[in-house]
Amino acid sequence: MEPLLWEWGSLLLRWLHVVAAMAWIGASFFFIHLDATLRAREDLPGGVKSAWQVHGGGFYEMRKWMAAPEFLPEHLTWHKWQAYWTWLSGALLLGWIYYAQSELYLIDPAVRDLSPAMAAIAGAAGIALGWVVYDLLCRSRLKRNDTLLLAALFAYAVAVSAVFAALFSGRGALLHTGAVLATVMTGNVFLVIIPNQKKAVAALIAGAVPDPRFGAEGKQRSMHNNYITLPVVFLMLSNHYPVTYVSQAAIPGIVALSLVAGALVRWFYNRRHAGFDAPGHGGGWWAWGAAAAAVVAAIALSLALAPSDPGAERRPPRATLPPAVEEIVLGRCSMCHMPSPVWAGIGLPPRGVVLDEADAILRQKAAIRVHAVLTHAMPPGNITGITTEERRVLAAWAAR
Ligand code: HEC
Repeated sequence: MEPLLWEWGSLLLRWLHVVAAMAWIGASFFFIHLDATLRAREDLPGGVKSAWQVHGGGFYEMRKWMAAPEFLPEHLTWHKWQAYWTWLSGALLLGWIYYAQSELYLIDPAVRDLSPAMAAIAGAAGIALGWVVYDLLCRSRLKRNDTLLLAALFAYAVAVSAVFAALFSGRGALLHTGAVLATVMTGNVFLVIIPNQKKAVAALIAGAVPDPRFGAEGKQRSMHNNYITLPVVFLMLSNHYPVTYVSQAAIPGIVALSLVAGALVRWFYNRRHAGFDAPGHGGGWWAWGAAAAAVVAAIALSLALAPSDPGAERRPPRATLPPAVEEIVLGRCSMCHMPSPVWAGIGLPPRGVVLDEADAILRQKAAIRVHAVLTHAMPPGNITGITTEERRVLAAWAAR
C-alpha cells in the first residue's frame, strides 16, 4: 500500500485509541474518586451514601446505593463502551503497526528469527493466553487474599514480559506486555464487571436481592484495573523511547519497576481521596518517595544495561546496496542513526532506527521513503544538508 496511507492509518487509529483511552481512564478515575469520597448522612436512607461535587459551574450530588436500589431506574447509563473502544482501536493499531509491518517493529532476528506470520500468531496468542491465565489466577484460592493475589499477579506480569522479551524486539516485547495488561483491564469489564452488574439488574427486575458476591468479584477486578492503569500507559508510551529497551535483559526489570511506581501512585490517591475529610488528609506521602525510587532504579537499570559496544554482537551484513544510496545514508543519517550515535546530544539511535550498514538500511527502506523522500522530516531541519539530488537517488531506490 502507498506508504503515506500507512502513516495516515496509523495516525487515525492512534487518535481514536488515545481519545477512547482518555474517556475510559477519565471515567474510571472519576468513579474511583467518587467511591472514596462517598459518606453516609443522617438524612439519607440506610445503605445510601452521597458525595457533593462542583464542576463546570454546577453543583452535583452523587449518591451510591451500597447494595442496589429496590427499584430499577428508568434511565441507567452503562459505562462500558469507553473500555471496548479502547481495546478495539488498540487491537487494530497493534495489527496495523506490529503485525502488518512486523519486520520493522516486532521481529528482531538477533532475538529470534520469526517469520511475519509466526510473529503475529505468537503475539495474538500470547495476548489471549495472557488473559486466560490471569482469569484462572483470580478464580483460584488466591482470590480470598487481595494482597497475595496482587503479589502473584505482579510476578505473573513480569514473567509474561520475560517470555515476550525472548521472542520479540524490545519495543515489541514492552508493547505486548502492555497489551496483555490492557486486555486484562478490558476483559475484566467485558467478562466480569458488566455481566455481574447485568445479573444484579436482572435480580432487581425479578424482585429479588442481588447476590453480593457479584459486587465483590467486580470490585476486586476493578481494583486490579485501578492499579495497572498507570503502568499500562507507561508501557504503551515506552515503545517510542529506546531507553526503555536498551537490552532484552532490561525488559522484565523495566516492567516490574513501572508496575511498582504506577501502583504506588494509585495507592496514594486512593488513600488520599478516602481520607479527604480526615485530619492529616490521608497521609501516605512515602508512596511518592518509593515510586520515585522505582523510577530511579529503572533509569539506573537502563544505563547499566545499555550496550557498551553495540556493534560487537551483530552479524556482518548480507545485503548490498547501490553505492550511491549507501553513501548518502552514511553521510546524512548514520551519525544519529547508529548503535552509538556520534551526534552530540543523541545517546541512542532515535526511535531505535539504525542506519549504518546495508542490512539495517534495507530493513528501513519503507521508513526512509516516508521520512526522507515523501516527507522531509529527516534529517531534522535538514541539519546534515541532504541535497535535492540525493533525495532523488533515495526516491528512485526506495520506490523499487
Ligand atoms: C541530527 C540527527 C538525525 C539525523 C542526521 C537523521 N535523523 Fe532520523 N531521527 C532523528 C530523531 C531525533 C528522530 C526521532 C524523531 C521523533 O521522535 O519525532 C528520528 C527518527 C527517524 C525515523 C523514525 C521516524 C518515526 O516516526 O518512526 C526514521 C525512519 C529516520 N529518522 C530516518 C532518517 C533518515 C533516512 C535520515 C537521513 C536522510 C535521518 N533520519 C537523519 C535524528 C536524526
